[in-house]
Amino acid sequence: MPANIVNANDASHIEKAVQILKDGGIVAFPTETVYGLGADAFNPSAVAKVFEVKNRPQFNPLIVHVASIQEASSLWQNTPLSAQRLMEKFWPGPLTLVLPKTQEVPDIVTSGLKTVGVRMPKNEIALKLIRLLGRPIAAPSANIFGYTSATNAFAVAEDFDDKVDMILDGGSTGVGIESTVVKVEKDHVVLLRPGGIDLEEIKKVAPVVPADGVLKKAHESPGEMVSHYAPWTNLSLIGTNFDDSITELRTLQNNFQQKKTPWPRIGVLLFGSRDLSKLEIGNPLFQVVEVLSPEKNLREAAANLFNCLRKLDKMTLDLLIAETLPEQGLGLAIMDRLEKASAGHVPFREFLDNIK
Ligand code: TXA
Ligand code: MG
Repeated sequence: MPANIVNANDASHIEKAVQILKDGGIVAFPTETVYGLGADAFNPSAVAKVFEVKNRPQFNPLIVHVASIQEASSLWQNTPLSAQRLMEKFWPGPLTLVLPKTQEVPDIVTSGLKTVGVRMPKNEIALKLIRLLGRPIAAPSANIFGYTSATNAFAVAEDFDDKVDMILDGGSTGVGIESTVVKVEKDHVVLLRPGGIDLEEIKKVAPVVPADGVLKKAHESPGEMVSHYAPWTNLSLIGTNFDDSITELRTLQNNFQQKKTPWPRIGVLLFGSRDLSKLEIGNPLFQVVEVLSPEKNLREAAANLFNCLRKLDKMTLDLLIAETLPEQGLGLAIMDRLEKASAGHVPFREFLDNIK
């Protein structure tokens, strides 16, 4: 076990973490979504360390984590009624609200933007840390920039080893994907990133733009890059018709066999359980099969997503293939992650063509 992972349920470890933060250090901690890499939000040089360790570009603002609605309001110039309602309904929880910031919020936290994103996490360890520090904690997800997010302390250690001062181990995170990020305007909210809170739930409190939650064009969140959350292994999403894609893969496999070219080692990420043996004649198509949720429960799938991706990525496979999920409810946020995770990679047809 890496030396700097400590059990967060031991009060003395939380106290030590608070001291590290007070001294300008950085601490990885659990939230209900993914692990965060935290610094005292009012200490610019501590925040600079977070950018450096994470290899994060300076233009990508951090979310500030608070322990109460009042603490959030003190970071914004004003708190519109819609923001008040959203906080009352969804906090603590995976919703980040972006609003014009006060001067006191350091520019490095917001990458020079005039707004700041704030959320109150639904995790006792995170809340305790913020309360004992007595100041908000600026924290991005605790992963190397561009790579798959971390949903447990070991995943954090894989990325950072001893480059962070302490990793508070609070077990696996429950939600598993990041918070929904919205910018609050006068009479509506603008969706910047789909996430742990379902859009339909937000719509009950304030109108959301875009209403279908599908972010096709460039929008205002600097962190929403085309490629993100990506494993090192080439990841390709297969079409909405799974069986058609399997038939296509089998044809390709036959071509490989005829040419005596070894079939690559492929890992497949499925939404639910499937009897793949029915689809396979001869050699198996896939070396490894990971299932997000046997019963196709979107909550369970979100909770397992990053862990499954990291697991597959460690198996030295040649290619990863992921099934497409329905873009409803949490499916929207999961597909957002899968699309970005595969965006910088080659589609499986092209990948296999290049081997032959
Ligand atoms: O669930 C979460 O949100 C996790 C946990 C640790 O709280 N945090 C997280 O942080 O996902 P990060 O840094 O990986 O993603 C923050 C996103 C980025 O897309 C960033 O561009 C956006 O929030 N963001 C932050 N402040 C913003 C602002 N002022 N205006 C627009 N977008 C902002
Ligand atoms: Mg992130």
